[in-house]
Amino acid sequence: MFSKKNPTPFQLAFLGSIILSLPLSIFVFFLKSDLWLALLFLLCSIGITYGVILFVFQLFIHRQIKLIYKLISQTKASKKEDFYYRNILPKKNITEVQLEVEKWADQQKKEIEVLQQNEVFRKEFLQNLSHELKTPIFSIQAYVETLLNGAINNEEVNVKFLQSTSRNIDRLVNLVDDLDEISKLESGELQLYFENFIIQDLLKEVYESLYLQAKEKEIDCTIKKGCESPLLVYADKEKIRQVLTNIIDNAIKYGKKNGSVEASFYKVEGKNTLVEISDNGYGISEEQRIRIFERFYRTDSARSRKIGGSGLGLAICKHIIEAHQQAIHVRSKLDVGTTFGFSLAAGK
Ligand SMILES: Nc1ncnc2c1ncn2[C@@H]1O[C@H](COP(=O)(O)OP(=O)(O)O)[C@@H](O)[C@H]1O
Ligand SMILES: [Mg+2]
Repeated sequence: MFSKKNPTPFQLAFLGSIILSLPLSIFVFFLKSDLWLALLFLLCSIGITYGVILFVFQLFIHRQIKLIYKLISQTKASKKEDFYYRNILPKKNITEVQLEVEKWADQQKKEIEVLQQNEVFRKEFLQNLSHELKTPIFSIQAYVETLLNGAINNEEVNVKFLQSTSRNIDRLVNLVDDLDEISKLESGELQLYFENFIIQDLLKEVYESLYLQAKEKEIDCTIKKGCESPLLVYADKEKIRQVLTNIIDNAIKYGKKNGSVEASFYKVEGKNTLVEISDNGYGISEEQRIRIFERFYRTDSARSRKIGGSGLGLAICKHIIEAHQQAIHVRSKLDVGTTFGFSLAAGK
């Protein structure tokens, strides 16, 4: 009947009343030499002391519990909560309260973890941002100073220096554009304008817009044989143009000279279309592959080759595809090549 570990207030009150009443009844028995009177006294005494002890217990426990509840709810009790404290709470036993407090503590722990993680993100973001800004700004500063210190009159270098300055300004503008885009995406401001369009037509437009970059590296951009028949998709055309542009721009940037970029399209289960862009470039190692969709992440080889880029492109692509309720993935092998794939809803 008695739980040894956690006796209830009822059990404690009962035990207390027996401990008090028994010696008193024995005393009455010896005083009056009347067994029945002593037994009657015992019963009455147990009843009264049990009631008094229980009342004091409940009052004390209830006060403590109420304090705990006030502490964990952290706000002033509303009328409803006050009613709860007064009338419902006393019926809860300590174990139930303990469970609730543990649940509350767990929740607090999780909230703190999220805050700490956000703090890490914020620090990393600022570090990355200042790093990405520093490189072009310092170059611009150096070129302008050199020009002002006399190089402007040197016919051999002045135009070259100005072109380099202009390239670095372009880099800054691109970075600010990407930042603007990603902050809009992350604050949920992205509005999608869905329409039906033929994905191969959009791809050809993107290939054309990147023609000069591809020609410079003599990279052949094609559509895989058997994937030419027009496929209608339902998506935000301009956003998908942005995704294709970044993936193909990457495929050219991180591709080898005389390489190739190939696009393929597949119908999946009738309601989706899979778009894949493959290259035969440098590839990405396994440990770097899991990080390339992070903001500002660029592989060491991308950085060391001094190829311009903010490292925000793929993070933007991921946001856009996920806003379409679809998924983006990557397969890659070092020195063999990389394939980026994403799904889109089939056109209606
Ligand atoms: N096709 C590819 N081949 C090899 N590496 C790639 C490819 N696409 C992306 N990457 C790697 O992923 C990184 C992130 O890409 P992205 O976010 O577009 O940034 P950025 O193009 O500005 O470098 C790149 O810096 C590069 O290291
Ligand atoms: Mg890119």
